[in-house]
Amino acid sequence: MTLQNPVIAAKRLRWCLVSVPLYVKVFGIGLLISILFATIAFYVMRRSVFDAHYQVRGEMALSVALSLAARLETAGLDQKTGVDQALNEAMNAFPSVRYIVVQDTEGTILSHGFTFPREAPPDLAQTDGDLCARCHESLSPVEVPEELLEVQPQVILPSGGLRAYRRSEGLILEVTVPIGDGRRASVRLGVGDKMLARDLASVNHAILAGMGLCLLASVCSALLLTYFLGKPINALLEATKIVAKGDFSVRAPVDSDDELGRLAVAFNRMAEGLEESRRRILRADRLASIGQFAAGVAHEINNPLDGVLSCLERLQRDPANLSQNLDYLEMMKHALRRVSGVIQRLLEYSQQRGMNLKPEHPGAIIENAAALIRVMARQKAIEIEIDVSDEVPAVMCDRYYMEQALLNLALNGLAAIEEGAPPETNAAARGKLAFRVRPAPVSAGMPRVRIDVEDNGCGIAPEHLPRIFDAFYTTKAPGKGTGLGLAIVREIVEVHSGTIEVESVVGKGAVFHVFLPAADTCSENGRNEKVSSA
Ligand SMILES: Nc1ncnc2c1ncn2[C@@H]1O[C@H](COP(=O)(O)OP(=O)(O)OP(=O)(O)O)[C@@H](O)[C@H]1O
Ligand SMILES: [Mg+2]
Repeated sequence: MTLQNPVIAAKRLRWCLVSVPLYVKVFGIGLLISILFATIAFYVMRRSVFDAHYQVRGEMALSVALSLAARLETAGLDQKTGVDQALNEAMNAFPSVRYIVVQDTEGTILSHGFTFPREAPPDLAQTDGDLCARCHESLSPVEVPEELLEVQPQVILPSGGLRAYRRSEGLILEVTVPIGDGRRASVRLGVGDKMLARDLASVNHAILAGMGLCLLASVCSALLLTYFLGKPINALLEATKIVAKGDFSVRAPVDSDDELGRLAVAFNRMAEGLEESRRRILRADRLASIGQFAAGVAHEINNPLDGVLSCLERLQRDPANLSQNLDYLEMMKHALRRVSGVIQRLLEYSQQRGMNLKPEHPGAIIENAAALIRVMARQKAIEIEIDVSDEVPAVMCDRYYMEQALLNLALNGLAAIEEGAPPETNAAARGKLAFRVRPAPVSAGMPRVRIDVEDNGCGIAPEHLPRIFDAFYTTKAPGKGTGLGLAIVREIVEVHSGTIEVESVVGKGAVFHVFLPAADTCSENGRNEKVSSA
């Protein structure tokens, strides 16, 4: 295995861990805790069960062995029958005693007693075949079971040695006590413990039940956490997706006062802040656009005012000429209405206002946007063409915002024509800005309208194309452009559930296509059905 493989494996594992749903993680942690708990409990409980058995059985074996040793010391070891009888009596009196062996200091067996099947400890059984057959020649050898394993008890008895053997039918505890001063012989006595298996089984059951309870608790916590954490998190996630689509009016539900509740409050504040910033940027852009065509508008106002002045002068010169003066008054009224109209439109345009979606005819919106740049275009000798197809349906939009979007596109077009005009030629010879409106192909079951704003200016270089809609991206000289125009156009179009595309050939011009859903596909509240249901 190369060094890279564990790194890749670790990355994959991390990816798997972070990508699994929350409830699976909680359940996994619960499962791990259960297994850890079960392992520790298993070890500790078994240990204490063993220790308890070693203690109780070991002490019982010790007291039997001590009283037998005392009796053998009194009776003497020379009388073999007496010794055998004492051993038999002890074995009969205590059914749990499995064997008793009296050995001298050399290890020679002076007397022994076993229950059947024979349960001699391994060190005796391994001495040349069967122990009983050696002592009693009439008996045939019997194999001692091999599964007799010595284990190390943790209990220290007050006196005498303690050894433990485990075999299939239970535990054997052996104590060794000296007879008298121990110089001649000692007694080895083994007691069986069949209760151990039962106690161990009940320990296992208790641990399994505990583990089951832990698992149940982890499933319940996973479900509860999914409900209490997953629900608000999912609501926040949905709200975030809506904000990412540009709808800052969405708010996350605040159901609690804990960290999640505070997160939802913070999210809502952020959305409010974004909404407010958008409003400010739109207003700032509107004011900047006004600045650009204010000079042109001044002419629009100036001309009728000049007319009013000259009418007034004539009136002063010849106040008695009634019929002529009535004409002058009519001309002045007409001129002042024009001025008032221009000022009214300027005021409306610069006002800060919320979105007000209504069915509007694209032709009317284009006329208004074109009116705002007409003077400027005339000054630059650029022709403005408006071509609206008769079959075009109304679109659901906010007239002022849509005018602002088209105005931004038109201002860009005028700038591009100016820039594209070779210095030695006159832009008037060829400068043209066209607004065209056509029904667009149905998309996702919705009839749409396409508004094209086309110019024959310098065009957009391919390397700029992917970035022109980014906020603050501009190719204009410092101080000439903010780079916000197209970002705002896209914002406005998207708020209207529309899309914007651009095509351009460097040196030939550019055309921006704005697609808007037709009004009859929109719901009562003015929002497109698809958007409001999203
Ligand atoms: N019709 C067009 N022809 C050629 N280039 C264009 C056209 N419209 C936009 N661009 C390019 O896209 C860039 C970004 O346009 P955008 O309207 O966002 O900002 P701007 O016009 O530079 O600045 P501002 O709009 O604040 O005056 C422009 O700098 C220009 O390079
Ligand atoms: Mg611009």
